[in-house]
Amino acid sequence: MTARALVTGAASGIGRATAVLLAERGAAVACLDVNPDGLAETAAAIGERALPLQCDVTDLAAVAAAVGQAAAELSGLDAVANVAGVGDFTGDVAELAPEEWARVLAINLTGPFHVSRAAIPHLRAAGGGAIVNVSSQFGLVGCLASPAYCASKAGLIGLTRAMAIDHTSEGIRVNCVCPGPVDTPMLAWTDATPELTARERSRTQGRNLAGRSGRPEEIAATIAFLLSADAGFMSGSIVAVDGAWTAG
Ligand SMILES: NC(=O)c1ccc[n+]([C@@H]2O[C@H](COP(=O)([O-])OP(=O)(O)OC[C@H]3O[C@@H](n4cnc5c(N)ncnc54)[C@H](O)[C@@H]3O)[C@@H](O)[C@H]2O)c1
Repeated sequence: MTARALVTGAASGIGRATAVLLAERGAAVACLDVNPDGLAETAAAIGERALPLQCDVTDLAAVAAAVGQAAAELSGLDAVANVAGVGDFTGDVAELAPEEWARVLAINLTGPFHVSRAAIPHLRAAGGGAIVNVSSQFGLVGCLASPAYCASKAGLIGLTRAMAIDHTSEGIRVNCVCPGPVDTPMLAWTDATPELTARERSRTQGRNLAGRSGRPEEIAATIAFLLSADAGFMSGSIVAVDGAWTAG
């Protein structure tokens, strides 16, 4: 059982569903996010097993303090889900502002590095544990007008494999989940760019063979499995949960 977990991006979507599911299964859950209102909603949904922590994953010192607080208040840490992320659907590399490139890489790739860096000593102290990084189908294949997002998510797959090589032998398993389209505020956000969205939908028509978007709970279930002892021989695995988007 996952007893003491930290979930980033816990104020919304997949992160919230993951925090709620882990708590339902008996874990105490440190819920980390930059959004205080969403965090309060998640904490209210979970009840006394939730520890809300407002924190920006791009801020190394703030992450170190928040992870330290989580480990102190939960009496240790066994599991980490790096879910926080932002979409980026802003144009090709010639159009993308360097500041936007840096912002997306800082949240989606450097964020999980910060959190994992702070958490690993606590997982070690617990005698082992598990980390799940949430990438995307766009870490495995490309997407129109999203170079920063695709690079950040492909980078997170590389980071997962590197961490698995370094930490599996000390009992810390590191895996990656690559969701396809999931019904969350992030997916709705592409409505802000209707012309790009229409071009991308036309390009990828037929890729999602499930014929529907995923539900946050379906991604949360995969994350919870990978964090659990049932996945005890899995490390360095890249698990697509994408309605066969990347199968062909
Ligand atoms: N929804 C999809 O279709 C989809 C598909 C593939 C991958 N993903 C990935 O799943 C993860 C969760 O996405 P979601 O769909 O639940 O989106 P979401 O927008 O509902 O939730 C993302 C959460 O991350 C938080 N966050 C953003 N920047 C942060 C920062 N700097 N520090 C701390 N928290 C921050 C937000 O406040 C938000 O609560 C993301 O990494 C996303 O890239 C989503």
